[in-house]
This record gives sequence, structure tokens and C-alpha cells, in this order.
Amino acid sequence: MIDPVNIRGEFPIFINNPDLIYFDNAATTQKPAMVIDGIKDYYENHNSNIHRGIYDLAASTTKKYEVVRQKVADFIGAPNEQSIVYTTGTTAGINLVASSFLSHQLQAGDEILISAMEHHANLIPWQMLCEAKGAILKVIPINQDGTIEKPLYKALLSPKTKMVALVHVSNSLGTINPIAEMIEIAHDHGIPVLIDGAQSVAHYEIDVKALDVDFFVFSGHKIFGPTGVGILYGKEEHLKKMHPINFGGDMIKNVTFKKTSFLDGPQKFEAGTTNIAGIIGLGYAIDYLNQFDKKEIQKYLKHLRTYAVNKMLEINGLRIIGSINNGNNSTDQAGSIISFVMDGIHPHDIATILGVEKIAVRAGNHCTQPLMDFLELPGTTRASFTIYNTPFEIDKMIDALKGIQQFFN
Ligand SMILES: Cc1ncc(COP(=O)(O)O)c(C=O)c1O
Repeated sequence: MIDPVNIRGEFPIFINNPDLIYFDNAATTQKPAMVIDGIKDYYENHNSNIHRGIYDLAASTTKKYEVVRQKVADFIGAPNEQSIVYTTGTTAGINLVASSFLSHQLQAGDEILISAMEHHANLIPWQMLCEAKGAILKVIPINQDGTIEKPLYKALLSPKTKMVALVHVSNSLGTINPIAEMIEIAHDHGIPVLIDGAQSVAHYEIDVKALDVDFFVFSGHKIFGPTGVGILYGKEEHLKKMHPINFGGDMIKNVTFKKTSFLDGPQKFEAGTTNIAGIIGLGYAIDYLNQFDKKEIQKYLKHLRTYAVNKMLEINGLRIIGSINNGNNSTDQAGSIISFVMDGIHPHDIATILGVEKIAVRAGNHCTQPLMDFLELPGTTRASFTIYNTPFEIDKMIDALKGIQQFFN
């Protein structure tokens, strides 16, 4: 069972700010003491560079750092730690795949397929690559309820498609995409798939092996870990063929003035001193999350969403963007993110007034500008929940929204 009050007590920010209602978890999650203390412990007791020193401190820190790779592999069901690349975040992982995996194969006239709900991070790297190579970026449209138009997905796949890149859970709409089915369909056409797991990994069971996905990316800071660290999972057969894009120390086998050879494993993509403290912190974040049953997390978040949606629908002029899932709809196409608009009130005004009431939500295009254009909206206000949020906090937001509605009308 998820006990949000107890969980809240594990997060120093809530102890220091007891009135804070934090509904901006899709932007970044708060950090539990376990992660903060783990990073502090690294700096106080273990600080050294990795893979270089042979003294005890360096050797034990290298071990601590590399253990996280296996921990990440277990966390997402990867076959082994050799398929886990440390990055600086989701954005960096996608850029690495675009530049290193696809760039060398893509020809003029080839196609890359994304969906209309992609975060800019899973759009611009592909767009830049298409521009450089004379390739074409194709976009799967979505339905009015924020779900993928599946028949069009199938229709858009062609022998020219060289990559399908899809978000698992939309950061703007909360839509949960049927990635297992979509990966299978792409593979039937021999097309590799990258899944952007930035919004899914904290709350959903991920098994990259069962999904048979080619690449899976996520960020540490959205799963209770530190900023500046993320993961690229890639099938080993792909990673082996990929060329590094950053060059320098810690990624080489041998260097002469004439020629350099690179390490074989994921370390070949990790040139220079990486975010050691961040990676160790990510390990603690995974330990933290592993205490919970993901099914219990989903059950709790579904309860929160249903509770919030039902109350929001009672507010005149408030419209939820995307799948409603208000308890009558059991299709489970909506995650713990609710995007909404209110008649005649700008999303920024809503977020500003909620902010004054110590309720943190996000307003704007959520780094999905083309999606907002598609929906013909200037932006939305977004409340995103996680395991430390409560129905009581939702009540507070509903009261505040009712006040905003009265004030503006
Ligand atoms: C779905 C999705 N993809 C990618 C990103 C980019 O993540 P980062 O900024 O951590 O690289 C985000 C961040 O909000 C996101 O929500």
C-alpha cells in the first residue's frame, strides 16, 4: 500500500516547507533523504575519480559507480549492464542515438516516424538529422482524446522508415501509449524503435527485454534522483556498432598520435569525468523506488487521477485535455498527468494564482509546442502527481480553481 503521508516525511523539502503542494512532478520530482544523504556521503567519504586511481578510495568509488550500471539494468529488465550507457538525461540519450546510430545509415528520402505528442527532446534531434541528410520527419496524428491514431501509425510505416521514436507516457496529456504493440508492429517491418521513458519509468514496470525495444531513455531527476544524469539503454548489437560522438579520457583502449582505439562497452560513450555523484545518487533513487510495488504505485496514482478528474469536471468551463478516465473509462490510457484549460483564463494566470496558494503546477506548452498547435491551444495548465501527493492536496487545488473561476467570471 502507498502511504503518501509517510512517504512525504521522507522528503526534506516537505519537512522544510510543510505547506508546499507539489504537483509539478512531470517537470522534476522531489528528492528523498536517501538520495540526498547518499550524495553527501559520496562527497564526504568516497570522493575520487573513477576508472583511474589504483588507491583504495578510487577503487571502491569505481565499484560504487559501476554497481549502479547493474542496478539500472535490473531496474528496467536489461539483459546486462553492458547495455546501459550513462548520459546527462533523456535529451542526451536521444541525441546520442540520432547522431551515432542513425546518422551513418540515413539517406536522402529516408523517413523517421515520431508522434504528434513528442516532447521537443524527441523531435528536434530527429528534425535536425533529417535536415542534414535530406530525410523526412513523419508524424503520427493523434485523436481528440489524446491517443495515437493507430491505423495511421501502420499506414505511415514504409520501407523508407529507418526509425520510430515514441514517448511512452506523454508529459503534456498523460496519455499512455501502447508501446509493446507499437514496437511489435515496427519490428514486423524491420524498423528499430526508441522509446522515451522520461515520464514512465518512475511509475510503470519497464522490461526492455520483454518489450524487445532497441533503445530506451530516461532521466534521473524524474525518478527521485539528481539532475544532470540519465540512462540510454541500447541493445548490445546496436551499441557495439555505434561510434562515440564525444572523445577524450576514459573511453579509449589505446592512443597514439596516429590512431586511437575505443573501449568496447558503454564506457566508449562516456568521455571525460562524468557526473559521478549524480550516478551514485541515481543508484540510491532506484533503491528508493525498489521499495515500492509498481502495481501499488499505479493503483494509487489512478485513484488520485480519478479523484481529481471527477472534481475538476464539476468546475464550470474547465476542460481536461486528453483522455478523461474519470472512473467510467477503464481503458487505462491516462497516467498521473492532468492537463486542463479554463474558459477565458490564461493557463499562466491559473498557475500564477495557484502558485500564490503554494500549489506548484506548470503552465505553457510543456516543451510540446507542435502538439499545442495541433490542439489549437496556447498552452495548458498541468498538474502531475506522484506517490507523495494526497486527495487532501487535490481538494486544496479544486478549492483554489473554483476561486479562480469566480474571480475571472
Ligand atoms: C516525455 C519527455 N521526454 C523528454 C524530456 C526531457 O528530459 P530531460 O530534460 O531530463 O532531458 C522530458 C522532460 O520533461 C519529458 O517529459
